[in-house]
Amino acid sequence: MATTFNVPAAVVVGEGALAELPAQVRRLGAQRVLLVTDRFFATNGLAARVVGLLTEAGIASDVFDEVQPDPTDVTVRAGVARYRAVGADLLVALGGGSPIDAAKAIAMLATNAEPLSQYMGYHKVARPGAPLIAIPTTAGTGSEVTKVSVITDTGRDVKMMMLDVHLLPTVAIVDYELSMSMPRDLTAHVGVDTLTHGIEAYVSRKATPMTDPLALSCIRLVATHLPTACAEPGNREARAGMSLAAVHGGMAFANSSVCLVHGMSRPIGALFHVPHGLSNAVLLPAVTRFSLPGAPTRYAAIARAMGFATDGHSDASAGAGLVAGLVSLNETLGVPRLGACRGMDRARFDALVQKMAQDALASGSPANNPVVPTAEEIVRLYHEAW
Ligand SMILES: [Fe+2]
Repeated sequence: MATTFNVPAAVVVGEGALAELPAQVRRLGAQRVLLVTDRFFATNGLAARVVGLLTEAGIASDVFDEVQPDPTDVTVRAGVARYRAVGADLLVALGGGSPIDAAKAIAMLATNAEPLSQYMGYHKVARPGAPLIAIPTTAGTGSEVTKVSVITDTGRDVKMMMLDVHLLPTVAIVDYELSMSMPRDLTAHVGVDTLTHGIEAYVSRKATPMTDPLALSCIRLVATHLPTACAEPGNREARAGMSLAAVHGGMAFANSSVCLVHGMSRPIGALFHVPHGLSNAVLLPAVTRFSLPGAPTRYAAIARAMGFATDGHSDASAGAGLVAGLVSLNETLGVPRLGACRGMDRARFDALVQKMAQDALASGSPANNPVVPTAEEIVRLYHEAW
């Protein structure tokens, strides 16, 4: 069966990549940039540095810094209004997954009809969006190389997953130096998110010969570099490795789809505002244990890639080694149980867990899982992760 593989037209990776921004803006023929970011980067000097690079090259720019964590449809509409008001013809996203996801939706909605909610799901966008250059500061969500954007629909209190080639950034600029100042917990949580991208891309029912090598590379890079990136924040080799892992994982999952971990993670984010990386990390061991019987050979390959098993182990024992290894990785990285995450509340969780399971199924991601769960099984997995 033929499969399609989508990536940005240019992916600029490595030390000094940020300096390539003006050349990329010029290559796309743009005159005026709207920089989409959050208050943190608007005030810590990084947005000013990006504006400075553009100004030096004679490129006009404005800054939209209203993106919050878990960006909403309200923010996206405000961003589109600003894009039109300043007469911009290109967007630059600067930040973690939230500013990049928001900028993707702003770019798309600049050329497609409202409301945003009609684009929830797969392949619903009619026209290409405005050109977008994505510059991640975390390693990473991989959002800079994916055609996925997750925006909270404030009307329904649901995290809308939108997947369409018209959401793909035109260019990704991945400079690991921008991730050097990530705090330890954020490094750990988005690092496990990256690992989850590699694992879910590899075991997905939609995995392809184009995505498999990237998924395995992502998994290997995380196993090699994540503990060091957490223990030694200034370790350049580890930061570079994690930033490459995020790019490979992003390219893989965007073209083969994520599965049950991400499906179950989004309701935790939407209802309890637990950050995306952390909510994936708390679910990964339990969901992996549940999913093993659906793809024993693939999970065994993951265990071997991570050093949790060797060629001498049977697939069954490698799979068990993977689950044990993921539990111990969470412990090493200081990932708490679901119930201990800030924002979780037992009574509210009990009242909402059925809705969470329904929302997870409705997202479509669990259908790609090696074992497709029922709503009752998802409820049980939430309790197991608690
Ligand atoms: Fe993710």
